[in-house]
Amino acid sequence: MVLAVSNSTEKTVSNKDKEEIISKIADRSAIVGVVGLGYVGLPFAVEKTKVGFQVIGIELNPKRAAAVNAAKNYIGDVDDAELTQAVENGQLIAVSSFDCIPDLDAIVICVPTPLTKNLTPDLSYIKSVTEQIAPFLRRGQLITLESTTYPGTTDELMRPILETGSGLTQGIDFFLAYSPERVDPGNQRYTTKNTNKVVGASDPDSLEVVTYFYQQTIDRVVPVSSAKAAELVKVFENIFRSVNIALVNELAMLCDRMDLNVWEILDAANTKPFGIMSFYPGPGVGGHCIPLDPHYLEWKAKEYNFNTRFIRLAGEINRSMPEYVVHKATKLLNYQGLATSKAQILFLGVAYKKDIDDWRESPAVQVMQLLQREGAKIGYYDPFVPFLTVDEHPLMSAKDMDTAIAQADLVIITTDHSQVDYGAAIGLAKAILDTRGITRKLADPDRKVVLL
Ligand SMILES: NC(=O)c1ccc[n+]([C@@H]2O[C@H](COP(=O)([O-])OP(=O)(O)OC[C@H]3O[C@@H](n4cnc5c(N)ncnc54)[C@H](O)[C@@H]3O)[C@@H](O)[C@H]2O)c1
Repeated sequence: MVLAVSNSTEKTVSNKDKEEIISKIADRSAIVGVVGLGYVGLPFAVEKTKVGFQVIGIELNPKRAAAVNAAKNYIGDVDDAELTQAVENGQLIAVSSFDCIPDLDAIVICVPTPLTKNLTPDLSYIKSVTEQIAPFLRRGQLITLESTTYPGTTDELMRPILETGSGLTQGIDFFLAYSPERVDPGNQRYTTKNTNKVVGASDPDSLEVVTYFYQQTIDRVVPVSSAKAAELVKVFENIFRSVNIALVNELAMLCDRMDLNVWEILDAANTKPFGIMSFYPGPGVGGHCIPLDPHYLEWKAKEYNFNTRFIRLAGEINRSMPEYVVHKATKLLNYQGLATSKAQILFLGVAYKKDIDDWRESPAVQVMQLLQREGAKIGYYDPFVPFLTVDEHPLMSAKDMDTAIAQADLVIITTDHSQVDYGAAIGLAKAILDTRGITRKLADPDRKVVLL
């Protein structure tokens, strides 16, 4: 890596800028900009206000910007009272334009990184934001990207846009870094503050500034040698989960053929005090990370003439799970003498994981789609998700879980929310397909439950 810092005069200037931003961060006079106030950006913005920073959120969705300014919370992990306090104190303001960029000292980018239809990275959001920032960029600013992406995005995509658009140079005039977000929505034990945060930058001054910036709100910051390394850390973490989930999903399908209970096998294996980690099978993978992020690395690896075989295989297995659930559901209906097209099916839990309201990419919705296309009458109950759409058909959560269960020919547990009384569900249901293993230790005297 060739650093842009080339002579002692420039280095002195860079040091002055570095000292200035570090001192502004220390005395909280630094103004923080957060671009994209979604699941990542809004909790981050509120967290920064809690330690005394003025935060300006740049959010293109006018409804979201207006909601923030009215202190109306739309993200489960954000505390209502903390949001209200930040807005009422004037510490958090949302805007929909980039005019404020020159006023900001640190700019944190938290925009979506989806996939195209062909499963290739869609970096249009990052590119567009970087292009909007570049003309306003001024000396001494820190820009940090939090969106999940492939290794090379910060240095290969963002840096040239920022340098060309501003005439400034990274490491001399401004600081640029990558710091992946590790938020685990719904996790009560690990919050933004006590989740270690990796930071990476490709020049030492940017790394020093970004490390100090995140140390203000996070207990432990872990610097790595480049933005590219930090980008790979994040995608590896999600690939690790994807591969291990695929492994237990495959085991579940094998156990079914061998007439073994996969949950019994995993529970027993997990008693080993070393050398094993708990992963459980399920109806597939959902959310904004595990189904998407591995494809970012898979795509980038091709540039190096490298095939990421584990990633591909894990994706194939995980993507096949909704079909497998449909196959098991159809068998269960057959036992009752019912055709799928005549059946009424209730989905218990539709969020992509327990105790959250996010149903993006949820495997529950994929199973619903498949069964709806078979002609089944589908409904759902989820205390966190009041409505959703399946193949563009709007659906509302049943108001009364007990009645909905009693009316259904089959209940499919697709998300294991903590607040649902599964014992009561077993009592009321005609048949249950439990894809999460949540009922495996409950009494089932009439043998109504089939585990995945
Ligand atoms: N949600 C998670 O649990 C999670 C965890 C770790 C990492 N990530 C990553 O963080 C990134 C953001 O994810 P998210 O879940 O917060 O997404 P999100 O869709 O909830 O939020 C993104 C926000 O950015 C806004 N936006 C889009 N384009 C914009 C632009 N040009 N200018 C300003 N605002 C714009 C959108 O309106 C939206 O409010 C993604 O790369 C994701 O992979 C997400």
